[in-house]
Amino acid sequence: MSNMKIIVVGSGGREHALAWRLACGSTSSPLADRDVIVVPGNAGIARSFRCEPIGAVAALVEFCAVEKPDLVVVGPEAWLDLGVADALNAAGVPCFGPQKGAARLESSKAFMKEVVRAAGVPTADYVVVDSVAGAEEFFAARAGRGVVVKADGLCAGKGVVVCADVNEARRELAIMLGHGGGAPRFGSASSTVVVEDLLPGDELSVFALCADNECVVFGAARDHKRLGDGDVGPNTGGMGAVGPLADDEGVSTAFLEDLRQRFFLPTLKELIARGLPFRGVLFAGLMLDAAGTPSLLEYNVRFGDPETEALLFALEVDLAPVLLACATGTTPLLPSSSTVQKGAVVVIAAEGYPDAPEKGAPVVGVPAADEIVGAKVFYAGVGHGAFGLVVDGGRVLAVAGRGATFDIALERAYLAVDRIEIEGA
Ligand code: AMP
Ligand code: GLY
Repeated sequence: MSNMKIIVVGSGGREHALAWRLACGSTSSPLADRDVIVVPGNAGIARSFRCEPIGAVAALVEFCAVEKPDLVVVGPEAWLDLGVADALNAAGVPCFGPQKGAARLESSKAFMKEVVRAAGVPTADYVVVDSVAGAEEFFAARAGRGVVVKADGLCAGKGVVVCADVNEARRELAIMLGHGGGAPRFGSASSTVVVEDLLPGDELSVFALCADNECVVFGAARDHKRLGDGDVGPNTGGMGAVGPLADDEGVSTAFLEDLRQRFFLPTLKELIARGLPFRGVLFAGLMLDAAGTPSLLEYNVRFGDPETEALLFALEVDLAPVLLACATGTTPLLPSSSTVQKGAVVVIAAEGYPDAPEKGAPVVGVPAADEIVGAKVFYAGVGHGAFGLVVDGGRVLAVAGRGATFDIALERAYLAVDRIEIEGA
């Protein structure tokens, strides 16, 4: 489908990658006439796309009344939680991204567990509590075992504590709930807490593009959350990612189809039963045990960042018709990729990230990095400075590489990284 006008909502590397892939289609169907606008975007994205400084749902709806886009694709969950899809749909604008009610799958872990349990999706046993006493029966049956304590609401990635035993879990639960006189650690986001069994194994992220009661699995990826090389340091939003994972990494087509049948479709059906049809991406955070059997850790209702940069750079798929199908409740079909490459992303983060990122350092060398064959820089936390781009957020750039193998993809990403200079990054 050419001649499409698409608005991508968000301002990070994920949105840059979405805009780029939506604008260029695939090598088999290059699209000169696709019009992609990013709202609000960032100073780097603005070098190749029209960006509009819109920060509120009502303003976006007004903008759509003027621009008449065929499709709006929403990146961040914060916009979805504000009801951007509800407002756009009410104005007759197709939106890829679920309405507020279904977006609670990400913004409330208690809601997610309730839906998933009702749908029969494999997940850790759990209780939802608002007092330590409420968890004692659960703890009593788990002496000597690991337990995970999760704030119900959104806590910027800090609301999950993996505990070695129930004593530690009891302490963490008390801190989260704010018992003993204090306020809940994360305010109303942790006045309700999910306590669940610790599941050992390897994590995997799988993305399904959903339209009410149908979906296609788009790809599997793995992100690396620790700040430092060699998986050390504090947790972050994601310092790098690889994807798509396939047979050689134990992620077969049959495995993905099994996930579709036993995880995604039952979840969509359960949401419909609750009057919450889902149009957007379901991002399943899975734990695979030693035998490779998956359990659901969490659902996000949006694309992962930086997994999306790795997947979209590597996969030559024109996503626009697929996302439009999802947004209009039509069965999505994924065209087969004309080239099957591997993608890798290395994130360049600002000095002080994740606790207190320093803003303002010049961002130098991106054009030279983009010249590396098989590499591309996606702009995340960058802004306008007096003499060019400067650091304006924690994760500054997502540098992607692609190639026949992950080793080649990663090598290319690092060749590009080497050409970039940001003081303290
Ligand atoms: P979540 O936000 O629920 O995905 O949790 C964040 C991280 O905590 C996950 O990516 C896992 O590394 C870890 N985690 C969450 N739940 C569990 C669990 N039941 N068992 C082991 N690790 C977990
Ligand atoms: N990279 C993990 C996330 O987007 O949640």
